[in-house]
Amino acid sequence: MNACIRALVRSCEYFGYDCYGFQEGYEGLIDGNYKQLKSEDVNNIIHLGGTILGSSRSVRFRTKAGRDKAAAQVKKLGIRAIIGIGGDGTYRGLQAFTEQADVQIIGIPGAIDNDISGTDATLGYDTALNTAIEAIDRIRDTAKSHHRLFFVEVMGRYAGHLALAAGVGGGAEAILIPEEKTHIDELVEKLNRSWEEKRPYMIVVVAEGDDAGDAFTVAKKVRELGVPYETKVTVLGHIQRGGSPSAFDRLLSAQFGALAVKSAHEGKSHVITSFKDGKYCLKDLSAGLESNKSLDTSFLKVLKITSS
Ligand code: F6P
Repeated sequence: MNACIRALVRSCEYFGYDCYGFQEGYEGLIDGNYKQLKSEDVNNIIHLGGTILGSSRSVRFRTKAGRDKAAAQVKKLGIRAIIGIGGDGTYRGLQAFTEQADVQIIGIPGAIDNDISGTDATLGYDTALNTAIEAIDRIRDTAKSHHRLFFVEVMGRYAGHLALAAGVGGGAEAILIPEEKTHIDELVEKLNRSWEEKRPYMIVVVAEGDDAGDAFTVAKKVRELGVPYETKVTVLGHIQRGGSPSAFDRLLSAQFGALAVKSAHEGKSHVITSFKDGKYCLKDLSAGLESNKSLDTSFLKVLKITSS
C-alpha cells in the first residue's frame, strides 16, 4: 500500500491536485483526521510494508450517519475524487458514499487474497505469495531432515488463489482449497501411498477457508485415519501480510496509482484499476464487487502432473 500511496501523491502533484491522506481510511474521513500529503511526505516509503495511513474495517462508514459525517468533511475540503485502496468492502463503501457526497470514486484493488474480480492482480498478493513460498522452502528443510508430514496453512479468507499458487510454487504434494471439495479419504490414500513408496517427507498446503477445516483439524483427521508420518502443522498467518513489497507489487502500485489519478483527472468515476491479460486498464466498479473470481484451474492440472 505504501508504494501505491507514494504513486498517488506524486501523480496528484503531476496533474496539479492537492492530495489528502485519511488516517485509517474511512475512519479518518468521518472524523476529519487527515494530512495533506506532499511529495516529500512519501520519500523513502516505496520499500515499506503496511501503510503510513493506517487501515481499518470501519463499522461506522457502513452506517448512513457515519457517511453523512464523512460527506461533510468532503464538502468542507472541496474534495473532487476519492481513491480507495482495498477490496469489495472498500468499493461497497465508496458506492454507498456517492448517495451522500458528490464525488468521483475510484477503487484500487489491494488484497493478498487476489480474490477481486475484474483484475488478474491485486496489490500485496505477489509479495504474500513470495513470503509463503519462502516459508514453505524453510519448512521443507525440517520436513526432509526429520521425515515428517507438514500441513502449512495459508491465508486467503474464502478464496484459494494464494494457497494454490503457494502450493504449486512451493512444491507441495497436495493443496486443499475451498473451491475444490476436499476428500480426506483421497488425501489419506495419497499420503499412505507415499509412505509405502518411502517418500521421506510430504508437504500439504491448506487454505484457511478450506471446507475440511483449518490445518490443525485436517492434520488431526489424517492422524486419526492412521497415516504413519510424524505430523506437524504451521500456520503462516499474518507473516504473509507484512514485509517489503516484491518488484511486481511495486510496479503494480506505480501503475495503479498513476492510472487512478489520471482517470480522476479525466472525470472518470465508479471504476477500479485493473491488470487484465497483461494490460493496465479500468474496469467498472461492479466488476470489483463480485466476489466469485474464478480460480486458474490450470494450476490444479499442473499440480496433478508435478506432484505425482
Ligand atoms: O483479506 C486479507 C486477509 O489477510 C485474509 O487472507 C485473512 O483471512 C484476513 O485478512 C485476516 O484479517 P485480520 O487481520 O483482520 O485477522
